[in-house]
Amino acid sequence: MSENIKKIAVLTSGGDSPGMNAAIRAVVRTCAYHNIECIGVYRGYEGLIDGDFESLDARSVKGIINKGGTFLKSARSKTFRTKEGRQKAYENLLNENVNGLVVIGGDGSFTGALVFNNEFGFPVMGIPGTIDNDIVGTSHTLGFDTALNTVVDAIDKIRDTASSHNRLFFVEVMGRDVGHIALNAGIAGGAEEILIPEEDLGLERLVDSLNKSKTTGKTSSIVIVAEGDKIGKNIFELKDYVDENMEGYDVRVSVLGHMQRGGAPSCFDRVLASRMGVKAVESILDGETNYMVGLINGKMELTPLDQAIKGKTKINLELLRVSDIMST
Ligand code: F6P
Repeated sequence: MSENIKKIAVLTSGGDSPGMNAAIRAVVRTCAYHNIECIGVYRGYEGLIDGDFESLDARSVKGIINKGGTFLKSARSKTFRTKEGRQKAYENLLNENVNGLVVIGGDGSFTGALVFNNEFGFPVMGIPGTIDNDIVGTSHTLGFDTALNTVVDAIDKIRDTASSHNRLFFVEVMGRDVGHIALNAGIAGGAEEILIPEEDLGLERLVDSLNKSKTTGKTSSIVIVAEGDKIGKNIFELKDYVDENMEGYDVRVSVLGHMQRGGAPSCFDRVLASRMGVKAVESILDGETNYMVGLINGKMELTPLDQAIKGKTKINLELLRVSDIMST
């Protein structure tokens, strides 16, 4: 392990996700385990530029593994996109004698980390934290599993009222421009249809399918709509179209929104966060930089940051087929 790394900084950036606190805790405790210092940076890259730092020891992160959000707070920094902003951030890190930076966030945050490393050669390591699960190099991003459980819980509740009133519900879920939350939570929640940006079903086919469901005896239905799906201009126009072109259903819309980002992390996310934090710190100590830690085939692996931010993770086609069969 490198003798040159004596102090590591950790920050959370972009949209928060459940498990970020658990990951900060893991970074801090791994530093303590290896007898190196750790500082927390508040408000992501904004705090890096403002020098908003706090020394963290093993006890500073007690009682947070079960907490949603991020106690370091998060931001999407415009200033860090400027050369001057990054220069200031670099100087602050040098003044604090920091030798490595762990960035917990999504692809935008990793792009910032990569640019920062290219300019100043500063060692950076990414931990993928986003509910969207849209980052190449990990089967699961931090918070995805918790968000799925939150969405499934919401669908179960909506189903109660849908079946009581014989209603058709369109439920919008997050995921930015990918459909991982929609597809997985839709299957788990027993949705009749799942609309995702990766697959264009077309409006007519949707109405046909919902009509067919009625003829087979269904009295209520739930359609999960990924926020990035483009079948209707938005979910309310989708509802209007179905209202106009389908008989006999009282149609409602429910947009789940930011509640999907909150709540206590699941067991899976807590374990994942702990493993990722250990791997991130130990990789920096091993002299690695410009990587993201991730879960691949059950193991912690490193993926170059430039690959991680390049593509979007592909939808599992088998899941699409399962969802089709289940809605029979
Ligand atoms: O990336 C996480 C996410 O929650 C997306 O699913 C969603 O599109 C976006 O962030 C919402 O961003 P904001 O919190 O800025 O509204």
